[in-house]
Amino acid sequence: MTEWHLPDREAMLALGAALAQCLKHGDVLLLEGDLGAGKTTLAQGILAALMETPEPVTSPTFTMLQTYPILLKDGRRGEAWHYDLYRVKHAAELEELALEDALQQALVLIEWPDRLTALPPGAIRLSVSFSQDGRGRNVALHVPPAKHHDWKDCYGLTSSA
Ligand SMILES: Nc1ncnc2c1ncn2[C@@H]1O[C@H](COP(=O)(O)OP(=O)(O)O)[C@@H](O)[C@H]1O
Ligand SMILES: [Mg+2]
Repeated sequence: MTEWHLPDREAMLALGAALAQCLKHGDVLLLEGDLGAGKTTLAQGILAALMETPEPVTSPTFTMLQTYPILLKDGRRGEAWHYDLYRVKHAAELEELALEDALQQALVLIEWPDRLTALPPGAIRLSVSFSQDGRGRNVALHVPPAKHHDWKDCYGLTSSA
């Protein structure tokens, strides 16, 4: 696990941009944390860093899914699918969200992954929480063993917590 303290929104966006350098096509990021913790902000930092033509990254709270064209650091073009499952109440609703398709063809970011009935295997977890001082936030990164090799250079991301 690697952990950071982010004193403000700008620091959260910068962490997202740094993490974006490490991401590969097919990666699944689970963005965990309470309402207002900063999950969407972290996703905004990640997605802004991967778009060739900048466009606003909005919270998918009501649409549940937003997609963006991206260029990954390995030179591959593709899409990022950003989900917000907060409003999902029944497992049947998940079927309409094409998650299986997303996992085949996109970089996938999921806010409120606890709404899923089964977690995608090999997912990378980012847990966002309010810090003790009541102002900043903490982010903990959990990379599954199968991806440690991919991420070994990225562990050079300086941990500040
Ligand atoms: N590191 C941070 N320190 C202080 N405020 C932050 C930080 N990161 C995000 N915020 C702010 O927290 C609020 C909620 O962020 P948001 O990303 O929408 O949360 P979530 O998606 O988890 O509900 C926003 O006003 C955002 O600017
Ligand atoms: Mg959000």
